[in-house]
Parts: sequence; C-alpha cells; structure tokens
Amino acid sequence: MKFFVDTADVAEIADLAATGMVNGVTTNPSLIQKSGRNFLEVVREIAGIVPGPVSAEVVATETAAMLKEADVLRAIGPNIAIKLPLTWDGLKACKALSDEGVMVNVTLCFSAPQALLAAKAGAAFISPFVGRHDDVGFDGMRLIDDIRLIYDNYDYRTEILVASVRHPVHVLEAAKIGADVVTVPPAVLRALANHPLTDRGLAAFMADWAKTGQSIG
Ligand code: E4P
Repeated sequence: MKFFVDTADVAEIADLAATGMVNGVTTNPSLIQKSGRNFLEVVREIAGIVPGPVSAEVVATETAAMLKEADVLRAIGPNIAIKLPLTWDGLKACKALSDEGVMVNVTLCFSAPQALLAAKAGAAFISPFVGRHDDVGFDGMRLIDDIRLIYDNYDYRTEILVASVRHPVHVLEAAKIGADVVTVPPAVLRALANHPLTDRGLAAFMADWAKTGQSIG
C-alpha cells in the first residue's frame, strides 16, 4: 500500500520523506490557503523532495480552462498529477490529459458510479473522500469496498486513493479492503507508529538496562 501525505507544509513533507514512508503528496486549494504560500512555488518545492506523484489541483471549472491550468502545472515536472474535480468538465479534461499520458487524480468522489466514470475517463487515481462521508452519517469505507469490487470486476487500473482520512482506523480499513493508496495528514501518519505498550515496553527495557551498568561500544 502506498502512503501519500495530504499537506502543503513543505517542512513536514521533507521530515516525513526521510522516514521512507512517503510515496507521494496530495494538495488542494484549502491546504494551499492554510500554508499561506504561493501555490506554484510550493508545488515546485514538493515535487523536488518527493519523486512520487504530487497532486496539484486546477481551480478552473470549464474543460478548456482546466487544460490551460494543467499545462502550467505539468510543466513543473513529470511527477505532477493533475487533480481535477469529478464533474463532466473535469472528466472531459481527464480523458484529454490521460490520452496524452498525463497522470490525473480525479478528486471529490462521493459515489461508486462517479468512480466508474473516472476509470472510464482514464484517471490514474480516484480520490473518494471517506472522512467527509463519515461526517454526514454514512460509513465512508463502504464506498471504498464498492469501488474496489467494481474496479476488480472490470480490471480497471485506476488506483483507489483513499482521501479525507482522519485517523489510523481509516488506514487500517483501507488496507484491509485493498485500496492502492491512502493520503494522510502528517499527524495521522505519525500516529500510525504510536502504541502505549511500545512506550511502556521501551521504558521498562531502558530501566533494566541502566541497572546492568553496561554500555554498547
Ligand atoms: C484529498 O486529496 C484531499 O486533499 C483531502 O484528503 C481532503 O481531506 P479533508 O476532508 O480532511 O479536507
């Protein structure tokens, strides 16, 4: 399973990349706004740190204008994935870019039929938002189940990129279903390594080691 980080915080990305756990990055206009930085500058920096796909989202809503923005974004480097909304305009732009061999991440997916359309349009990634579904009382993971089943039925190669991840159980469930990628906020990625029994066990080992009076090397 691939881990992408869902942030525009370049320092966080650099720090996490050093763990070897970061296979890509996703950004969106809200994350750029939160960073308080210039969009193109941030994406350039991220694409220089992480060799894997870096999703950069268009802000136009019509196909022709989306494709113009995509031209600017894809010029940043071969690891840029153009992020497009799941609308008919976005799907048309997805088809055009995918036909040219450009990676497309279709975002804001909230239903399995939408995910089917994205696969038919040649998307490299589909981003179903699980946390936002949970927020309105629907179990977002059922959507991942359905998309996995449909893509496997027809052997679609579009990767399921689980988005809007809020906690480690989302990662666990996505892995059990066989999603290809999860994009996680840095805090959730860090939380995956935490366990109170690990902390307690380490403290006990250190205390007993100190009593031996020995050192290594
Ligand atoms: C995915 O690509 C989106 O950027 C992101 O996961 C949205 O998450 P949110 O629902 O926490 O804003």
